[in-house]
Amino acid sequence: MWEMEKDSIFRAVDWEDGRVVLIDQTRLPAEEVYLRLSEWREVAEAIRTMRVRGAPAIGIAAAYGVVLAARGERREEVEAACRELAHVRPTAVNLAWAVERMRKAAGRAAPGSLYEELLAEAHRITREQDEADRAIGKLGADLLPPGCRVLTHCNAGGLATHSFGTALGVIKDGFRKGKVAFVWVDETRPLLQGARLTAWELRKEGVEMAVICDNMAGHLMSRGEVDVVVTGADRIAANGDTANKIGTYTLAVLAARHGIPFYVAAPLSTVDLTVPDGASIPIEERDPAEVSEWGGRRIVPAGVVARNFAFDVTPAGLITAIITEGGVARPPYDRSLRGLAGAEGTSGR
Ligand code: MRU
Repeated sequence: MWEMEKDSIFRAVDWEDGRVVLIDQTRLPAEEVYLRLSEWREVAEAIRTMRVRGAPAIGIAAAYGVVLAARGERREEVEAACRELAHVRPTAVNLAWAVERMRKAAGRAAPGSLYEELLAEAHRITREQDEADRAIGKLGADLLPPGCRVLTHCNAGGLATHSFGTALGVIKDGFRKGKVAFVWVDETRPLLQGARLTAWELRKEGVEMAVICDNMAGHLMSRGEVDVVVTGADRIAANGDTANKIGTYTLAVLAARHGIPFYVAAPLSTVDLTVPDGASIPIEERDPAEVSEWGGRRIVPAGVVARNFAFDVTPAGLITAIITEGGVARPPYDRSLRGLAGAEGTSGR
């Protein structure tokens, strides 16, 4: 048990000796390689290329990136870093939210204490995320039926936050309490965050699981082999419409068809009350080569176009509940989310 616990401790993003340390998620699970970055532009590039990914984790990485920009106590450099880092990926609101917190911290820093003030704020954002993960895990685990088989999509684990995870936090907490018997892990095309990253994390926990292709979920649900679906979120609109990894919407439709509860787990920093509904959430479209190539080889005939939408929107009506660190929001979400996120959500931006 101790060995397993020790092994399960990792930090997706860390601050060590004045540098940002990241697990290079593009190289997992084959290799556990840590990148040590000392320039904010390298952090921006790591977010763009998804060496660090997941809504809260890119927010934390960007926050530490802003700290790197403050080494010379130059406010113009900090502002340049904030401007670029906030927009590297458009869908996850945690990125712009974390950068905005850093901008405000810079605004209140006394002359000569910019670096110190920003480092303290980045540490605060990280600590708050860890606390949110633990609270979400507990609240979510309470909702799970005993001995359940859970299906999850993409990776909403510690790799996507900092150390524990949101949707995967619910599953880990539920597993530790003996409530989760089995996990179906969607591979999550095109970048395989489920097959590579969620399976890596759950293996450290000792959870029994099987990786499936995304298009197998309906088959399993129709045979009664899924009791509950839990996913993360990249941005939740004021009405509860939720953007998450491409394929999440499909799962929610299937879950509704089969009467299976569909839970979203996310920190309040993912709730964006400035956006009224899902149609207003910007959806990232990435390089088509992520779809048309595999292992550096083209798998689509030459001249044929591929499209690569990174996220989709699940309408609020398909979501059973949204689990946040402040409590579990139930429909109607325009009311319940405002109650929970009014003070803490990104509405304050
Ligand atoms: O493109 P990614 O891998 O950054 O997408 C990640 C997701 O969709 C996660 O489910 C979401 O960010 C929640 S992370 C706790």
